[in-house]
Amino acid sequence: MTTAVIIVAAGEGERFGGELPKQYAKLAGKSMLLHSVELFSRLENIDHVIVAINSKHEHIYKALAPSMPEYVFGGARRQDSVYAGLTALAKHNPVKVLTHDAARPLVSPQIITEVVDMLNDFKAVDVANPLQDTIKKNDGGIELLDRSKLYATQTPQGFCYPTLMQLYEKYNDRNATDDISFALWANLNVGLVNGSKHNLKITTPEDHQYAEYLFKMKAL
Ligand code: C5P
Repeated sequence: MTTAVIIVAAGEGERFGGELPKQYAKLAGKSMLLHSVELFSRLENIDHVIVAINSKHEHIYKALAPSMPEYVFGGARRQDSVYAGLTALAKHNPVKVLTHDAARPLVSPQIITEVVDMLNDFKAVDVANPLQDTIKKNDGGIELLDRSKLYATQTPQGFCYPTLMQLYEKYNDRNATDDISFALWANLNVGLVNGSKHNLKITTPEDHQYAEYLFKMKAL
């Protein structure tokens, strides 16, 4: 059964600042993107790795390592980058596909494997991290939300490949910040894997500092 992953790395990373785009910034001595690329590439339950990059960053991508995975140029929205990867994967005809943010270099093999395995029972699988803060909504007035029913979404999210292709074609005109949104629009039953606080998305320089700390702790 063929499983592929699309690592999306085509963003501009404007909130991060710095000389290099954030997905190429060094983290524990290695480009942020390379952490996910190397992890997915060495896992036995992942057959194909494809990376969606920004065409402006092609020279940086190619210089990361002597042998980098196949890449495609992403688009203006994250979902356009995912779709470019999905289209390029058609030649491999995968059964399962994972979508992963390059900005999450600390994802664990355990989370990846749980997502792949849960796809035997669900067409879409989300990674859910419970919230610790009390959550309120400020929409003119302040509303208290029931934290026990809320979670923050992480990646990799998993899908039956033909299903995600169909969803992307059907809902292309809508805007999403993740791929499970497409499954929810189609009322699919979504499986949930437990996320981790360590699987953070690096957006700001503070996130980057915290990730450096986590890598140091991992190495001890
Ligand atoms: O912008 P955001 O933090 O949600 O981006 C999440 C991931 O999606 C990042 O790894 C980023 O590089 C990627 N992305 C992309 N194409 C875009 C926008 C974001 O591949 N047009």
